[in-house]
Amino acid sequence: MGAEKKWLFTLFSATLLSLLLLLLYSFSTVSSPKPFPSIIHHGAHYPPAFAYYISGGRGDKDRIFRLLLAVYHPRNRYLLHLGAEASEEERLRLAATIRSVPAIRTFENVDVVGKPDRVTYMGSSNVAAVLRAVAILLKVDRGWNWFIALSAVDYPLVTQDDLAHVFSSVRRDLNFIDHTSDLGWKEVHRFQPIVVDPGLYLARKSQIFQATEKRPTPDAFKVFTGSQWFVLSRSFLEFCVFGWDNLPRTLLMYFNNVMLSQEGYFHSVICNAPEFKNTTVNSDLRYMIWDSPPKMEPHFLNDSDYDQMAQSGAVFARQFAKDDSVLNMVDENILKRGRNRAAPGAWCTGRRSIWMDPCSQWGDVNVLKPGPQAKKLEETITNLLDDWSSQSNQCK
Ligand SMILES: *[C@@H]1O[C@H](CO)[C@@H](O)[C@H](O)[C@H]1NC(C)=O
Ligand SMILES: *[C@@H]1O[C@H](CO)[C@@H](O)[C@H](O)[C@H]1NC(C)=O
Repeated sequence: MGAEKKWLFTLFSATLLSLLLLLLYSFSTVSSPKPFPSIIHHGAHYPPAFAYYISGGRGDKDRIFRLLLAVYHPRNRYLLHLGAEASEEERLRLAATIRSVPAIRTFENVDVVGKPDRVTYMGSSNVAAVLRAVAILLKVDRGWNWFIALSAVDYPLVTQDDLAHVFSSVRRDLNFIDHTSDLGWKEVHRFQPIVVDPGLYLARKSQIFQATEKRPTPDAFKVFTGSQWFVLSRSFLEFCVFGWDNLPRTLLMYFNNVMLSQEGYFHSVICNAPEFKNTTVNSDLRYMIWDSPPKMEPHFLNDSDYDQMAQSGAVFARQFAKDDSVLNMVDENILKRGRNRAAPGAWCTGRRSIWMDPCSQWGDVNVLKPGPQAKKLEETITNLLDDWSSQSNQCK
C-alpha cells in the first residue's frame, strides 16, 4: 500500500467511525430524550415541597416502589427504608429499580437507607427510625416544608399537584397531627405499664417485654396521644431533632418505655412546647376504617370502599393488601398513572402513549395543575383551618 492509499484508508475508516457514532448518538437521543434537570425553586413564592419517608419490611420492595411512583414529584424529597429483616439483596434491587426511572435518575431526589434499623412492633424503635429519617432529610435537602411518613400499606388519594396546590395556601408552620389528652383506657393500658424494646440493643429480632412494676402517669408534662400518621412542619422537626430545648429529648427518654410510643411522642412534644402548641391542626388527613371497638390495625380497604374513600377529602388511605384491585382504581381514576410510571403532573410534558411515559420528558417543575380531587381536599383543609383559628380543638 502506497503512502497515499494508507492516508485514504485512514480517512475512510475515520469517516465511517464518526458516521457510526453519529448514528448511535441520534438513535439514543430518539429512544431516550436527553433529560435536563429543570431548575427547582423553593420559597414563599413557589409551591411547597414535601419530604416523604416510606418504610416497609421484608418483601415490601414492590409495594414501596409502587407507592413512591404514586407520590413522586421532582420538587419533593424521598427516603425509603426496608427494615433490618429485609435482605441486603432486596434493598439493592429496590435501589436499582428506582434508578430505572429517568426522572428520579435526573433529579436525584430519592434515597434508600443503606444501613437499616430494626423496628419492633409496638416498640420505641419506631420513633427512633422516624427521627433518624427526619435527620437525614433535613441534612440532604434544604427545600422541603412538610414531612410525611408513609408505610408500604398506604396509598395517596390525591396527586402531588393537588396536594402542593392546596398546601400553597396553608401557613408553612402548621402541623397536621391528630391528638388528645383524653387518654381513656390508654392511661392504664399504654402509659402506666413500663415496656422495653429489645430492637434497640439486641441483634436478633424479638418482641417488646413488659416490666412487672407500673409507673404513675407523668405530671411534669401533659401526655397526649393520637394517630401515628401526621404531616409535620420543618420548623417543628428542627426543634425535635436539634434539641436546643431539652423538652424533645426528655420526652424521648420517657417514651422509650411506653408501648406504641409513635402514638404519643410527637403529640406530647408539640402540645407541651409553648412556641408550637398553637400550630397544631387536629387531623391526620388519612382515611381509615376501624372496627368498633378498634383493633390494632384498620380494615383492609377494597373495591367496595372506593367511592367513600375517594370522596373523603383525605390525602392518604390505609391499609391495602398488596396489589389490591382498588389501587388500580386509584391509579386509573385519580392519579392517571400507568404501570411502573410516576403519577403525571404538570411537569410531565411527554406525549402519553402505550410505549411512552409522559414523565420521561419534562418542562418547568415549579408549576402545578390540580385535578378534581384537589376540590375535596380544599374543603377538608378549609374546615380544619376554621377549626384551627377558633382554637377549640387544640392541645386540650
Ligand atoms: C398561642 O395562643 C394563645 C391563646 O390565644 C396565646 O395567648 C399565645 O400567645 C399564643 N402563642 C404563640 C406562641 O403564638
Ligand atoms: C371488602 O371488605 C369487606 C370487609 O372489610 C367485605 O365485607 C366486602 O365483601 C369486601 N368487598 C369486596 C368487593 O371484596
